[in-house]
Amino acid sequence: MSTIIEVVDVHKQYGRKVTAVGGVTTKLESGRSVGIVGESGSGKSTLGKMIVGLTAPTSGQVLVDGRDLSRLLERRPGRLEYRRKVQLVAQDTTTTFDPRRIVREAIRRPAQILGGLDSKAADDAVDSIVADLGIAPELVERYPHQLSGGQRQRLSIARALVVHPDILVCDEAVSALDVSAQAVVLNLLKDYVTTHSLGLVFISHGLPATAFITDDLLVMNRGKVVESGETMSLLNAPSNDYTQTLVGAYQAMEAVA
Ligand SMILES: Nc1ncnc2c1ncn2[C@@H]1O[C@H](COP(=O)(O)OP(=O)(O)OP(=O)(O)O)[C@@H](O)[C@H]1O
Ligand SMILES: [Mg+2]
Repeated sequence: MSTIIEVVDVHKQYGRKVTAVGGVTTKLESGRSVGIVGESGSGKSTLGKMIVGLTAPTSGQVLVDGRDLSRLLERRPGRLEYRRKVQLVAQDTTTTFDPRRIVREAIRRPAQILGGLDSKAADDAVDSIVADLGIAPELVERYPHQLSGGQRQRLSIARALVVHPDILVCDEAVSALDVSAQAVVLNLLKDYVTTHSLGLVFISHGLPATAFITDDLLVMNRGKVVESGETMSLLNAPSNDYTQTLVGAYQAMEAVA
């Protein structure tokens, strides 16, 4: 199944003063991987939340296969359908897992509610996604507080993928991991994207990770997309001043490393 999300001139205003997102237009689809980069506060997470329907745009539209997302989310069947198709790995994983339940239950729930599986099939789905992602099986039997931040982050990816979404939005999904753990997760995600024809929206302030995993890039600054295009050509020849600064900082870091 393929899904196409069109983001049409979306704005998000917080109060009168803060324009978190100030008019972004873009298109996302299954089988393509898009990076959203930009400095802290540039509106990346806000855009991601509007794409997954966690927050509504102040103006503009998100269209899912031609249908208006706000309308689709008004009714429970539409909400369930969209939650199955489009999943988020949130920047802050502390609220992803209920502290009173073992992680298996948190991953099993979407498989039952969104995937329509009975509890035995949902348990099998948990085991299978955990194995696919190379996660040690015993970790799902623990409570969230018994896990490291990096383990929780990988399990939150498992929770998002257990329903086999068409599009996965990852908000800083590897930023809390050390470099070697990042490489493991990035490779797994990249394989998964290719083999399952998943659409990936990879939000990050880390350019190397983003460059590795994405086909296209959106560079955000102060709520707007200041440059977009194919990842490699954009990084090799950035035309926008802000992108040049971002790429320059990345090259300087590489030179030191
Ligand atoms: N719920 C909110 N209420 C008020 N202002 C908000 C809210 N959420 C975000 N903002 C503001 O909107 C702007 C964009 O925030 P956002 O979280 O989208 O940035 P970001 O690019 O994801 O940053 P980071 O890289 O630090 O995660 C910031 O100025 C932020 O303070
Ligand atoms: Mg953010």
